[in-house]
Parts: sequence; structure tokens; C-alpha cells
Amino acid sequence: MRVLVTGGAGMVGSHVSELLEARGDEVITVDNFTTGRPEHLINLIKADKIQVSISNDNLIDELASRYSHINAIVHTAASFANGNDWSDHINTNILGTALITRLAQKYNSRLIYFKLLFAMALIQPLSQCHWIIQDNQWLLVMPFLRLQANFT
Ligand SMILES: NC(=O)c1ccc[n+]([C@@H]2O[C@H](COP(=O)([O-])OP(=O)(O)OC[C@H]3O[C@@H](n4cnc5c(N)ncnc54)[C@H](O)[C@@H]3O)[C@@H](O)[C@H]2O)c1
Repeated sequence: MRVLVTGGAGMVGSHVSELLEARGDEVITVDNFTTGRPEHLINLIKADKIQVSISNDNLIDELASRYSHINAIVHTAASFANGNDWSDHINTNILGTALITRLAQKYNSRLIYFKLLFAMALIQPLSQCHWIIQDNQWLLVMPFLRLQANFT
């Protein structure tokens, strides 16, 4: 299976990429190294490693010229380290994610998204277990377990 991992040089993306390559998948990583590090990619022997922003308009054409198919996309690229950099948050998390969604549609590939939590939080900073209001519903969120329970 050919899998594209966005944010492949980041914490989640590099571990996912290594696990995929170890089980025999063909991995393509995409990262612009804003918070990720090139050394996170050294254990990936066979992967194609592309340095580009996911919000780059040419990304879809560039990938289309190289790959006839992509079976799955694991989307972990995210901007959150610098809480004040709203421009980068919007470029990466909104425009970039929209572009990655278009890419998944183009290839008809499965999309797995390690999403940031955009919500009105009652407690700052967020703890490992907290309540939020989202779409007029109460949610109990445990981000590190990737668990959300819905209380309406
Ligand atoms: N690390 C955790 O414990 C954890 C827990 C829950 C959720 N998550 C979520 O998983 C996602 C990834 O988290 P992480 O800890 O791996 O973060 P990370 O900063 O280590 O990885 C994000 C990667 O995305 C890359 N990136 C940022 N902007 C980019 C862009 N425009 N184009 C291409 N690459 C770009 C960075 O260079 C980095 O390599 C985030 O959405 C985070 O909220 C992480």
C-alpha cells in the first residue's frame, strides 16, 4: 500500500511512517520542517521524503506527476507550537488541510486525520481530561487517549 504521511518529520508522523515502512508499506512523507526535524526521518530507508508545505498550491500537481495512486493519507502536519502565529495556523491547519482533503478526493484515498482541537475550552491550558463546548454540545475530551465522549 502507498501511504502519504503529512508532517512526517514530526512526533506523530515520524512514528507512524516508521511503523508503516516496517510492515512493508511504501511511504511518502511531506514536511516543511517548521517544528519537525530531518533526523526524525533517518530511520526511513525507502521512503520518498518531500520538503514542502501542505498549503503549497502546486502540491497536488507535483504529487500527481509522480504517483499514479496513493491508497491512504495520514494527515499529522499541524501548526500549534507558536500560539501567536495565526497566519501559519490558518495556512497549515485550514488551507493546508483543505488541500490535503482535495488530494484524498483526487486519489480516492482513505484519509486519517490527527486533528487539532478547535473548540471553546473552559480551562486553559488544556489538561489531559477536560470539558469543552462544541456545536452547543458538552464534550469530555481526553486528547492523549484520542477519546471524546458526547454529552448532549
Ligand atoms: N504529540 C501528541 O502527543 C499529540 C496528542 C494528541 C494530538 N496530537 C495531534 O497530532 C498532530 C501532530 O502532532 P505532533 O506532536 O506530531 O506535532 P509535531 O509538531 O511534532 O509535528 C507536526 C509536523 O507538521 C509539520 N508541519 C507543520 N506545518 C506544516 C506545513 N504547512 N506543511 C508541511 N508540514 C508542516 C512540522 O514541521 C512537524 O514535522 C497535531 O494535530 C496534534 O494536535 C498530538
